[in-house]
Amino acid sequence: MSRMVMIGITLLLAAGLVHGKDQPTAPNGIRLFPDYLEWKVVAPSYREDRGQIRVITGNETAMAALRRGTRPLPDGSVLAKVAWKARKHPSFPVATEPGEFVQVEFMVKESKKYRDTGGWGFARFVGNELKPYGSDAGFASECFACHTPMADNDYLFTRIVTTP
Ligand code: HEC
Repeated sequence: MSRMVMIGITLLLAAGLVHGKDQPTAPNGIRLFPDYLEWKVVAPSYREDRGQIRVITGNETAMAALRRGTRPLPDGSVLAKVAWKARKHPSFPVATEPGEFVQVEFMVKESKKYRDTGGWGFARFVGNELKPYGSDAGFASECFACHTPMADNDYLFTRIVTTP
């Protein structure tokens, strides 16, 4: 093996270790994507019964497809939904702001691997410890069941926000 190839492989391995290191992993093997808040915003949302403010973001692949209206989304698309408890702003109580972090969830498109759940892999990380949700990989059927009414929209609830 040439020296350059050896160096290349070593660098790749090191990058892989740094990237994967210490990231919480869901029971189905999906790892937390640490940069989800650097992705573009699909839309904010508010869930009244839970009193939670959410932001839904998408990686480049997902955003390009959403902007074009492509369904189903291509493999490599990832959507995140992050939630905080809503609270009154201390200096302006009629304004509601995000308080305590609740959880972050992901939907990862890999149509063959996740064939049984609409091509989407699901993952949820709860609380400040980012504790992976679910005792085994079967937890995803719970996610998928609630997303099933949206089958015509590739199982997605959130529509991209419009701006002029
Ligand atoms: C009881 C119904 C329900 C269950 C169960 C559910 N979701 Fe959702 N999900 C929703 C709704 C409604 C939205 C729309 C945005 C919102 O709720 O603020 C959503 C949105 C999302 C989004 C943003 C993309 C989209 O479809 O809008 C992701 C990512 C997501 N959910 C992941 C998950 C994961 C992971 C699980 C399981 C651990 C899960 N969901 C379980 C109802 C559900």
